[in-house]
Amino acid sequence: MGLIYGSAVAAENEGPIGILDSGVGGLSVLRHLRLLLPHETLLYVADQAHVPYGPRPAGEIGRFLEGLTRFLLEQRTKLVVVACNTASAAALDQLRAAFPDLPIVGMEPAVKPGAAQTRNGKIGILATVGTLESERYASLVERFAQGVTAFEEPCLGLVEQIEAGRLDGSETRQIVQRALAPMLAAGVDTLVLGCTHYPFVLPLIQRLAGPDMVVIDPAPAVARQARRVLEGRNLLSRRLERGEVYLYTTGDPGRLAAQARQLLGEEFPTAGLAWQGEENWNQKGNLLCLYKPMK
Ligand code: DGL
Repeated sequence: MGLIYGSAVAAENEGPIGILDSGVGGLSVLRHLRLLLPHETLLYVADQAHVPYGPRPAGEIGRFLEGLTRFLLEQRTKLVVVACNTASAAALDQLRAAFPDLPIVGMEPAVKPGAAQTRNGKIGILATVGTLESERYASLVERFAQGVTAFEEPCLGLVEQIEAGRLDGSETRQIVQRALAPMLAAGVDTLVLGCTHYPFVLPLIQRLAGPDMVVIDPAPAVARQARRVLEGRNLLSRRLERGEVYLYTTGDPGRLAAQARQLLGEEFPTAGLAWQGEENWNQKGNLLCLYKPMK
């Protein structure tokens, strides 16, 4: 009896955590999940065929997320972390409605922690256009930024620079400088990184904003939330050995492997995925995301 129950639980508990982003940004969340949950297996999916998500319509992002989540479910994923503010803002509710039995952790810009930490009532929010224009973001500001002035900046082109591995090039510096200029002039003392790509240019941001600027990366809080959800459902891994990490991309796997090496200093097995069904964009039916055979 005990054995049957035990093995059934173990099968679920040993399912992987799936992590989704348009590109490499979610790796800034993956590194904190790994620190906090070292025994978990992590499947990271980058939808690099469609990066950046920032300027895309919400409905489109929702269809991508559903396709990627179906792929993750085929891998027996027990929890999905949408490690992307833009995708969470666009389609988190849609995703939860499509997969009601699957625990899903989303992200939102850390407006509340930012408002709590500012000493002078001025905070800066760096996020994509999609996030800043979303209803979800408007509601966050409405609820948590009362009495605080929030300066917003979409940092156009920054995601592309980070995808290209240019973390401190002159173009990247210019984009960040342009974004920070009005905030620094206004005396902002706290910056919120509202896009998971941006922590990879944190050293640059801190250098340009000065050592006294408080910069908030929400990734550790997201990792804690993922742990809480797994604990609450009794789904934590029982393994004693370290969990593995596998990367997938709808773009070029060789490139993603190299990007991860640059950004995290580690090598991980990386495979390709292919989208199917995009040609029937306006028709009903699911977009499929399938393994791409190795050449
Ligand atoms: N990393 C994503 C985020 O957190 C979005 C980047 C993109 O525009 O694709 O918002």
